[in-house]
Amino acid sequence: MDRFTFLDVLRIIGGLLFFNALLSYWFTSDPTWGYHGKYLNWRFYLHQLHGEQTLTLQQLSQYDGSHGSIFLAINGSVFDVSSNRAVYGPGGGYHQLVGKDAARVYVTGCFLKPDEYTHDLRGLDPEECEKDITGWQRFFHNHKNYWYVGQVKLDYDFQGEPPEPCKHVKFPLS
Ligand code: HEM
Ligand SMILES: *[C@@H]1O[C@H](CO)[C@@H](O)[C@H](O)[C@H]1NC(C)=O
Repeated sequence: MDRFTFLDVLRIIGGLLFFNALLSYWFTSDPTWGYHGKYLNWRFYLHQLHGEQTLTLQQLSQYDGSHGSIFLAINGSVFDVSSNRAVYGPGGGYHQLVGKDAARVYVTGCFLKPDEYTHDLRGLDPEECEKDITGWQRFFHNHKNYWYVGQVKLDYDFQGEPPEPCKHVKFPLS
């Protein structure tokens, strides 16, 4: 009996994948059993090859969805949210959050005040910051379509007063 060659193994795996896709298409009208998350996104694997990135705020601002990938940052952690252009792209309900580190908005919810779109957390309750910031970071980390890109270099040496608290919180989608 002949030995299996590497090519035979590839053929068998390829055949099984093809059969799986056919089976899935037969039952669900979709070749991937309805899964369309990041593990089927070539950009995700490109990022894995690339490794974690370190961006400046200037570089981050390029990823605002006007062309190519869409990134947002929360207190230094950068996430790729390109898969959800409807929400984060131009005209989307949360488009203002992208291309920058708007950590403060995730805590205050003051979406209508432009000066809230900063990583300046001075004047806010530290416990609330900890809870909201880590909560949202975890949301983007674990999301089926989004992934962690790396860090944005931030300067915490703020001059002047932090943004005023907003009295009437208004949400973009309310
Ligand atoms: C501090 C307060 C809030 C923050 C930081 C916040 C932030 C966000 C973010 C980041 C998303 C996008 C999630 C994703 O990528 O799937 C989202 C989605 C959404 N938010 Fe909020 N939100 C807040 C409050 C609210 C309130 C009060 C409402 C209701 C009026 C609301 C309505 C929605 C809706 C409807 C979506 C789904 C958008 C979609 O998938 O089309 N949000 N929110
Ligand atoms: C924000 O990031 C800074 C610098 O890494 C860190 O010291 C601080 O604890 C973070 N704050 C929150 C609320 O996560």
